Amino acid sequence: MACPFDPAGVRPSRRLLLAAAGGLLAAAGAKRPAAADVQPGVEPFHGAHQAGIATPQQTHLYFAAFDLVAKKREDVVAMLRAWTAAAARLAAGQTASASEADPGQPAPDGGAALGLAAQRLTLTFGFGAGLFTKDGRDRYGLAALRPEALVDLPKFNGDQLDPQRCGGDLCVQACADDPQVAFHAVRELARLAANVAQIRWVQSGFQPNTPRGETPRNLMGFKDGTNNPAPDAAGTPDMPLGFADVVWVGAEGPAWMQGGSYLVARRIRISLEHWDRTELDFQEEVIGRHKYSGAPIGKQGEFDTLELDRTDKDGNPVISETAHVRLAAPAMNGGAQIVRRAYSYNDGASFVAERWPPWRQGIMYDAGLFFLAWQRDPRSGFIRIFENMAKMDALNQYTTHNGSALFACPGGVGPGEYIGSKLFEPA
Ligand code: HEM
Repeated sequence: MACPFDPAGVRPSRRLLLAAAGGLLAAAGAKRPAAADVQPGVEPFHGAHQAGIATPQQTHLYFAAFDLVAKKREDVVAMLRAWTAAAARLAAGQTASASEADPGQPAPDGGAALGLAAQRLTLTFGFGAGLFTKDGRDRYGLAALRPEALVDLPKFNGDQLDPQRCGGDLCVQACADDPQVAFHAVRELARLAANVAQIRWVQSGFQPNTPRGETPRNLMGFKDGTNNPAPDAAGTPDMPLGFADVVWVGAEGPAWMQGGSYLVARRIRISLEHWDRTELDFQEEVIGRHKYSGAPIGKQGEFDTLELDRTDKDGNPVISETAHVRLAAPAMNGGAQIVRRAYSYNDGASFVAERWPPWRQGIMYDAGLFFLAWQRDPRSGFIRIFENMAKMDALNQYTTHNGSALFACPGGVGPGEYIGSKLFEPA
């Protein structure tokens, strides 16, 4: 049986791989899997919007921010064309390239995802401010096209940003139901980017395998995503705007951004040791919801409305003045909304000196939330909401923002187009 990595020049194709898998199964006396078993989920790559924004959230994330090192605009365009072709193949569960393997050269696909199928892989691309101008220089003739909404994020109260986890000229968000498929996809794209773009920072993340239809819990043990506009859903009393109105750039934006969205990424470390020693009722007060049911404080159902103006017998607000859900609510922020599509992260343990009482110091988890917020304009989305929260939110006692970036993620790619083609080649 030929091995998909046979140095005799065998192409690492799905056909061979299936043959190899079939051979192994036959040897074990097992039945060959039906096609549907091999390819459980494929998310379309082409469409009016990029995938990975309205797509039901996959369980794994690998996110990479890149710095552009190319001197010439044509080189950036060539890379984006190559990325587009590879991304369409990878999302379909294929190898990054259709080329024949040459024993004297690196394989056209590294092979780490062979046999894993598409796993609902989505690849979402974004442009940072540095694509338009860097250090005051208009490197690629795009400076005049920088959208107004692609602002420099302000410094927020409490930010402890590590420059090595911030910014980037380009980003790729890879989401899949398998961690190796997501990482593999970014590796293949990074390889295609040689001499044009290099990785600046990366972040992996995960979601629990919560049964479909239920709200997943984050590392703090609370249901996270209850009051989050669902794709195709209209508004609710708590979240008056539906998904499409919150997320997709409309006629107010440049043509290449229409159908696109702005992504705010924040790496938020959570002091889990401190949280785990906090009394349950105080945890609930901090969030403004009950931990086990997810219901607003004083209510029974997870999806009951917040009713922020409820008061107790002494006239105090039932949901505290500094509760996370109160400060984040549209009602407190002039109607501002975002869509959250975040992933928990768990990056080991390292030395930390806390900025809040009891000023703990020592080796602590480097774990938390890789917060990803989508909106049609960050000025009226994340910035509007977070400015006040950064000062007042009781959750800040447990969280530290140490990474930050903003990307303009263009509209979807049609057949024959490449990522950002409407920016580089306006009609
Ligand atoms: C480690 C950081 C964070 C954690 C653990 C966290 C957790 C939660 C939880 C448990 C809820 C309640 C359930 C739900 O409706 O989803 C919630 C709601 C929400 N969070 Fe966060 N969050 C974090 C950071 C942020 C940040 C930085 C923002 C910035 C804008 C934000 C915006 C929101 C919004 C808009 C809601 C819905 C509020 C509403 O019900 O009106 N969160 N979050």
